[in-house]
Amino acid sequence: MAKVLAVTFAMSQSIEDLTAILSEIPELTVTEPEIGFPVIEVQTPVSAATIAVHGAQVLTWAPTDHPPVLYVSPKAKMTGGKALRGGIPICWPWFGNHPEDPQMPSHGFARTRFWELVSGEMVGKMATIVFKLVSDEETKALFPFDFELTATIRIADKLRVKLNMKNTGVEIYKVSSALHTYLSLGDIERIQLEGVKGSHYIDQASDDKEPVYQEKNLQIKGEVDRIYQSMSSVLIRDLDRYRSVFVDKAGSRSTVIWNPWKEKSKELADLPDKAYKEFVCVECANAGTDKPTLRPNGSHNLETVIGLRPLS
Ligand code: BG6
Repeated sequence: MAKVLAVTFAMSQSIEDLTAILSEIPELTVTEPEIGFPVIEVQTPVSAATIAVHGAQVLTWAPTDHPPVLYVSPKAKMTGGKALRGGIPICWPWFGNHPEDPQMPSHGFARTRFWELVSGEMVGKMATIVFKLVSDEETKALFPFDFELTATIRIADKLRVKLNMKNTGVEIYKVSSALHTYLSLGDIERIQLEGVKGSHYIDQASDDKEPVYQEKNLQIKGEVDRIYQSMSSVLIRDLDRYRSVFVDKAGSRSTVIWNPWKEKSKELADLPDKAYKEFVCVECANAGTDKPTLRPNGSHNLETVIGLRPLS
């Protein structure tokens, strides 16, 4: 039975509204794993996914007959107004801590608000779901600008998430952001991460903020929290699962790689102590010095495409 949550957040569409929007498409169904936390289940001929309306957050995705590609913490909380650990949280309009005010929510507010479901469609083997989030009095208390965000999620033999961010106001502003993808792994110590070799990174886990040169492909043997200055795709060779996962991107000059490792995992209440072994975050980002400027009526697209390849 679904649990009743203390609802202290606004959902603009009821379950009936969501169901009505998707009523013509049998591949897309609205479920409510927790009361007040609707999730769209997607079943295409080639893959399956679940997407929360809260945060327009893809929670799960995998091609048919494959183990999960995205990691979701078994301790993740489906609570409106709180970030859910796993899948692809959308971090916007700032990445990490707020640039001036440490009291502000980490990674902005787009991941902790209900978005509006605009449409769903199924063409051939691909499902497309579109969500919007627009500025209102509540967002203006945290970020004093007008905006319209559109998240377009395409589910087929690959997963695509495109975030269009538009300045609908009269003032110019800058944003940072990330499509904070949690990738599920067989064993963090048995992966090779290609695509960041030859770029520089800022080590967020260190006090030294000088850029560091990445000489080799990355193997993760401890805490990693790095903003790479890189426009390249990432390929993870997962020796345990005998597969590779690619993360392609567009509109992004920075890639964040994060794994909390042993000690930090213990500090995160919504993550089992040993969960650091089972995932790595590869985030298609606009972070660090990579901060697009949005002029009035201007917009920027941040996009990631995720898929599987045989291990070579
Ligand atoms: C990463 C950051 O993107 O997200 C890390 O680089 C941060 O510094 C991590 O710890 C998780 O953030 P949160 O707010 O979801 O716990």
